[in-house]
Amino acid sequence: MSAHFSIEDPLGGMSDLFRNSNISLSLADYTREDCPLIGINARFTEITGYTASECLDRNCRFLQPKGGAGPVRERMRAFLGDEDKDHARFVIPNERKDGTPFLNLLYMSKIQREGRTGLILGSQFDISSVNAYKSDAYDRALHEDLISLKLLTEKTNWSLVTSLEALASSHAIIAQARIDE
Ligand SMILES: Cc1cc2nc3c(=O)[nH]c(=O)nc-3n(C[C@H](O)[C@H](O)[C@H](O)COP(=O)(O)O)c2cc1C
Repeated sequence: MSAHFSIEDPLGGMSDLFRNSNISLSLADYTREDCPLIGINARFTEITGYTASECLDRNCRFLQPKGGAGPVRERMRAFLGDEDKDHARFVIPNERKDGTPFLNLLYMSKIQREGRTGLILGSQFDISSVNAYKSDAYDRALHEDLISLKLLTEKTNWSLVTSLEALASSHAIIAQARIDE
């Protein structure tokens, strides 16, 4: 599978991690104006329909419907600006490039350098029609990728502050989202 970065792999090894993963991964540069995407992998393109040249250097909000994504957008913005929060999960309505809607379970985690957020890892999971088996498999894959990322950061001056034990279950979030619908 492929991975595309618009800058040199910031952690050296991140592109391998993106390439080897079978879940959708994305990386944004928090230090740049409007926090653009700087890396995506093949699964991101599979889920969203957007290729690297269509989405790198743009803020990922282009996936949100023209009519707006509702109050979750504000909660995502608040999370990104809150220094006390290191990771979070959101259920957000998104649209593929061909216009078909899907419900995205978005995971975001901050990657810091010298105590400041520099990069944000994102992972997209289409929960429009998943079962418990698929969502547990996704959680396991995400957990493994986070472990690999943590190991990568340990070789650099970056750090993934997120506690890996604190990953909320997708299954529970999806069940709640269906009740809220
Ligand atoms: C790494 C990363 C991945 C993101 N992925 C998505 C996504 O898949 N879908 C989405 O609707 N928003 C995504 N976002 C959130 C938006 O880019 C943006 O932060 C959100 O809409 C809140 O900010 P705004 O009010 O300025 O748009 C992502 C953000 C980051 C940092």
